[in-house]
Amino acid sequence: MKAAQFRDYGGPEVIEINEIPQPTPAQDQVLIEVYAATINPFDYKVRRGYMKDSMPLKLPLTIGGNFSGIVVGAESEVTKFKVGDKVFGQSYAFGGGSGAIAEYAVASVENIAIKPKNISYIEAGSLPLVGASAIQALEQHINLKDGQKILIHGGAGGIGSIAIQLAKYLGAYIVTTVSGEEAEFVKSLGADEVIDYQKEKFEENPPAGGFDAVFDTVGGDTLDRSFKVLKKGGVLVSMLGEPSKELALKYEVAVFGQNTQTNSKNLSRLKELVEQGVIKPQIDRVFPLDQTREAFEYVETGHPRGKVVISIKE
Ligand SMILES: NC(=O)c1ccc[n+]([C@@H]2O[C@H](COP(=O)([O-])OP(=O)(O)OC[C@H]3O[C@@H](n4cnc5c(N)ncnc54)[C@H](OP(=O)(O)O)[C@@H]3O)[C@@H](O)[C@H]2O)c1
Repeated sequence: MKAAQFRDYGGPEVIEINEIPQPTPAQDQVLIEVYAATINPFDYKVRRGYMKDSMPLKLPLTIGGNFSGIVVGAESEVTKFKVGDKVFGQSYAFGGGSGAIAEYAVASVENIAIKPKNISYIEAGSLPLVGASAIQALEQHINLKDGQKILIHGGAGGIGSIAIQLAKYLGAYIVTTVSGEEAEFVKSLGADEVIDYQKEKFEENPPAGGFDAVFDTVGGDTLDRSFKVLKKGGVLVSMLGEPSKELALKYEVAVFGQNTQTNSKNLSRLKELVEQGVIKPQIDRVFPLDQTREAFEYVETGHPRGKVVISIKE
């Protein structure tokens, strides 16, 4: 089968399309014929070698983690899924899976769910990590309620564009930071106010009393400055590391450095929200498997709006 792999750490140029044997499912796994897979920032951070000390990998490695497809094989112990099920989920090669940007992948039954019925494989393949991230942050950590005010950093990105839709459904007033040309896009998703992060400082005009919550998908300086705009008792969730405990004490807010669980519970909730029409996948561009390198180049330089997807069998 064909798989997009890298054998040396580096830029998109290290990506090659290789002919390799089909993976074999272990006890709690299924074999999936992959229809579509997406690119997440995590995928190019791994390829660049950012995690090579903390997470040594056996190379060559099949790149990518999120997919949609059809179950074509399962060990006899697997009862939750059967051959023919249309699924979406996660298969990281270093997390017990085999990697998603390939014609076939194996995934644990804990990391897949039945795909939403009302969307295509390309749309479903774009969603697992970004959808689970928004659900875990807004529904589980923040417990966002009707009438609350939330600031979402990076609203035009993969996670931000889903988080805005979910926050709208939960009844929140949404302010989001994006670069200027994305203002109309995020308003169409449900943002009430848009701040151009290249022109304005978001902390200069917070709402009276402060925000109930900040969801940070940017990190660094943006994360540290976010404490200033929260009200006492507010919640700050960051996708990029642990927020400062000292600042949390000083500003009297709760903080979470989120590690997203792309598990069957979050994926099933995602399916429900997509089928209710609450969450609509945001696809920027689709590339064929043979152009995975070009797709990564585009993601890493092109400032995509939403997700870039590799179409494998659709
Ligand atoms: N901890 C976890 O479990 C976990 C899980 C998933 C993702 N993550 C991390 O979360 C981050 C976001 O993921 P993603 O998939 O949403 O990435 P993404 O699609 O690249 O989106 C990031 C967005 O942030 C915008 N941005 C950049 N600098 C900004 C700033 N100073 N203020 C406001 N917006 C800014 C970017 O816009 P421009 O186009 O203007 O640059 C882009 O739209 C990534 O770093 C990823 O690795 C962590």
